[in-house]
Amino acid sequence: MHLPTTTTTSSLLLSLLLSSSSATPLIKPTVDLKPWKQAWEHKWSTNDWHADKNVFYFDATYAVKATPDQVRNGTTPVPGQPGAKGLFKYGVNVAENTICYNITLSGVSGTYSSPALTATHIHEAARGASGPPRIAFPNPQGPDERRVSYGCLTGPFTTGLKGEDGRDTGDGFHVGQIVKGPEGFFTDAHTVEFPVGAVRGQLG
Ligand SMILES: *[C@@H]1O[C@H](CO)[C@@H](O)[C@H](O)[C@H]1NC(C)=O
Ligand SMILES: *[C@@H]1O[C@H](CO)[C@@H](O)[C@H](O)[C@H]1NC(C)=O
Repeated sequence: MHLPTTTTTSSLLLSLLLSSSSATPLIKPTVDLKPWKQAWEHKWSTNDWHADKNVFYFDATYAVKATPDQVRNGTTPVPGQPGAKGLFKYGVNVAENTICYNITLSGVSGTYSSPALTATHIHEAARGASGPPRIAFPNPQGPDERRVSYGCLTGPFTTGLKGEDGRDTGDGFHVGQIVKGPEGFFTDAHTVEFPVGAVRGQLG
């Protein structure tokens, strides 16, 4: 396990409790920037994510610009929050089934809302289509001008949402699937006023 030992702060747990409809958060995120920093510093100094196998690395990174116009209900465009935008940064380590996230929302207001465990997700679906959430991230917190959420999650993943087969939609999901076909995944955040999405963006 190359991921540095991490701690969960009570403030993040509190914000999780406040932002989730579920009383007991099933997601225990690491709220640590160390993996991000280690991976980036190593990349800068060696120009190679994998130069030293003992240093936590990313196989792939994504910087997704999420906007209201990309939101769909099925395939029907249903505009999200006017003027809102999101920058969803992800770094994926396949061997450790780990995804690090650094999410910034600007202009998203109101309470988060989703039948899933949290309202901030990576869903599996192509551009212009809709599909089930595979990973649920802690909701970004802070003033509406700049709500943020960062850390790393390691599988097995739980979204808290049951699919048609009765299983959790995160069941058996592996981050390697994102690396294999990022165009088949999108990321978004849902609020009471914009239940199908305030902003949305495609990973590939
Ligand atoms: C999304 O589509 C479903 C099924 O067509 C419909 O029942 C629902 O009201 C729609 N929701 C929004 C927010 O447009
Ligand atoms: C997270 O993203 C924000 C906005 O792009 C950036 O300012 C910050 O440095 C990032 N943090 C890490 C650890 O990458």
